[in-house]
Amino acid sequence: MNITNDIVTSYINRHYEPLNDELGALRAMGEADRVPIILKETEQCLSFLLALKQPGRILEIGTAIGYSSIYFAHRCPQAEIYTIEKDETAVQAARHNIAAFGLEPRIHSCFGDGQEQIEKLRDAGIDGFDFVFIDAAKSHYKRFLDAALSVCRKDALIVSDNILQKGMTVSDQYDPQKKHKTNIKKMREYVDYICSSRELETSLLSTGDGLAVSIFRGEHG
Ligand SMILES: C[S@@+](CC[C@H](N)C(=O)[O-])C[C@H]1O[C@@H](n2cnc3c(N)ncnc32)[C@H](O)[C@@H]1O
Repeated sequence: MNITNDIVTSYINRHYEPLNDELGALRAMGEADRVPIILKETEQCLSFLLALKQPGRILEIGTAIGYSSIYFAHRCPQAEIYTIEKDETAVQAARHNIAAFGLEPRIHSCFGDGQEQIEKLRDAGIDGFDFVFIDAAKSHYKRFLDAALSVCRKDALIVSDNILQKGMTVSDQYDPQKKHKTNIKKMREYVDYICSSRELETSLLSTGDGLAVSIFRGEHG
């Protein structure tokens, strides 16, 4: 890993405990199937932020098989969660897992593009989110964020995952074949955007694949 020394990461992960056996089993299944669910060290950081924030309404862009949204539901037993996924097969798997955990009443699985689905939620009067997790197509974070801010409360916490993209956001040397040129350019623009926005107070963390933690300071749009 180009971001954190592997020895450091394995030390941190030795202190990781799944919240319960069922979540541990879902993580193991996701990892075995190579589903890009949140890294253990990312989960540890999210756990801490969720404990501090105690959100009532969580918005997630990028459901995959539902691991992180099911995790949020366990970590925040009072929270209502809206999670958006554009891949139909993934949505089906997520809905199956959400139902198996008995969480259908609290996790709303939305099928479609992140921005479009957020706009639908807004039009339906569903807003007041106080925690947002952006974990979907890396070159589209800005439009996901802009849409998300329109349904957020003041002081909402916004966590953007994978902002360092295995170090590629930081330096071209980590993408020697230039295979990820567009994603790298877009992520650099996104990081500049959230760090310079007067609506946001942002901290960049080298946890996992890089996390940006932002506090929404005011009205958007
Ligand atoms: C990294 S995975 C999400 C992992 C999940 N948050 C977890 O930790 O369990 C990213 C997901 O975003 C989805 N995705 C990609 N583009 C999207 C878009 N425009 N709108 C919504 N979801 C999208 C992908 O299909 C993929 O399943």
